[in-house]
Amino acid sequence: MKSALTFEAVAKCSTTKARTALLTLPHGPVNLPVFMPVGTQGTLKGMTPKQVEDSNCQIMLNNTYHLGLKPGQELLDKVGGTHKFQSWNRNILTDSGGFQMVSLLKLAEITEQGVQFASPHDGSLMMLTPEHSMSLQNSIGSDIMMQLDDVISSLTTGPRVEEAMWRSIRWLDRCIAAHQRPHDQNLFAIIQGGLDPELRRKCVDEMVKRDTPGYAIGGLSGGEEKDQFWRIVSLCTDLLPKNKPIYCMGVGYAEDLVVCVALGVHMFDCVFPTRTARFGNALTMKGTLSLKSGRFAEDYEPIEEGCSCLACTKYTRSYIHLLTTKDTVGCHLISLHNVAFQLRLMGEMRAAIEKDEFPQWIQQFFAGYFKEKA
Ligand code: GUN
Ligand code: ZN
Repeated sequence: MKSALTFEAVAKCSTTKARTALLTLPHGPVNLPVFMPVGTQGTLKGMTPKQVEDSNCQIMLNNTYHLGLKPGQELLDKVGGTHKFQSWNRNILTDSGGFQMVSLLKLAEITEQGVQFASPHDGSLMMLTPEHSMSLQNSIGSDIMMQLDDVISSLTTGPRVEEAMWRSIRWLDRCIAAHQRPHDQNLFAIIQGGLDPELRRKCVDEMVKRDTPGYAIGGLSGGEEKDQFWRIVSLCTDLLPKNKPIYCMGVGYAEDLVVCVALGVHMFDCVFPTRTARFGNALTMKGTLSLKSGRFAEDYEPIEEGCSCLACTKYTRSYIHLLTTKDTVGCHLISLHNVAFQLRLMGEMRAAIEKDEFPQWIQQFFAGYFKEKA
């Protein structure tokens, strides 16, 4: 199908499956592999769009479900999409909405037609179909739009796993048919099939036939064993085309990013860095610092030596510790740092792959990350 992106391979690691590439989307370049911070309601929680821009973020994630409720489709059409509405000129990827409803609203019910759910505003029954999700994402104007998929927990077993896989394929066909802007918005397929290698293989096979501009691996990182998670990711990166971006959905722990990059994944997203910041947790190369803890009361070091974010260049752990106990601004500073950390981690991996020193980098990363806490 038509695509509105270009994908240029840059470097390949000679020992792992890691590779770097330059992805060019309608709102500019994205260096792969990339971490995409999540801005559920338009901007990242606790950060202004300007601060997100200053962090050198090239692409952020928004949710169709949230934007569709507020500001709503009519206003998005009037304003001309969410880039203008948010004054964000870089790339946006939107998730299709089904995952959010299934994970947020336990009351969502899935039928062949779509995902039915009770409106969080007035409790009335609403239905998100593949066509409606595409229409909303066309109004949002995201650079990458995700198909509506039939999402199940990664711990589900039995016939429901195969049902969700085939339904996701049928819904992909409905998304392709409903897509109004293939010339300037890229639709990605989402591979489902649970932890069953045969189902995953079949799903990849069917979705690759649809020739979408990129592919996502869905239905993972939901409490399954790491060994199973890695095996499914590895199987998918082996089978998917080498000249298109591969996105592993909902993955954001540093150790998972490192392993999945080594397995050949290009794109990631997760609410974890910004969510954990709201609990006072700062991410560093030496593990997590719980800045609410009294042990930081007289610690005059920055959160992380060498980090160029606003929190680290201007403030001490002691001051941020005080703020986290008094005001939300402490958590905002930690959010800034955590996003900077994720982007720096990805940048370090890209540089190591390009120098063909990725295995040594991995060794040094794990040695520091699991050392006794700073
Ligand atoms: N976010 C994390 N996992 C998934 C998934 O399987 N599907 C969708 N649409 N979003 C996700
Ligand atoms: Zn920092």
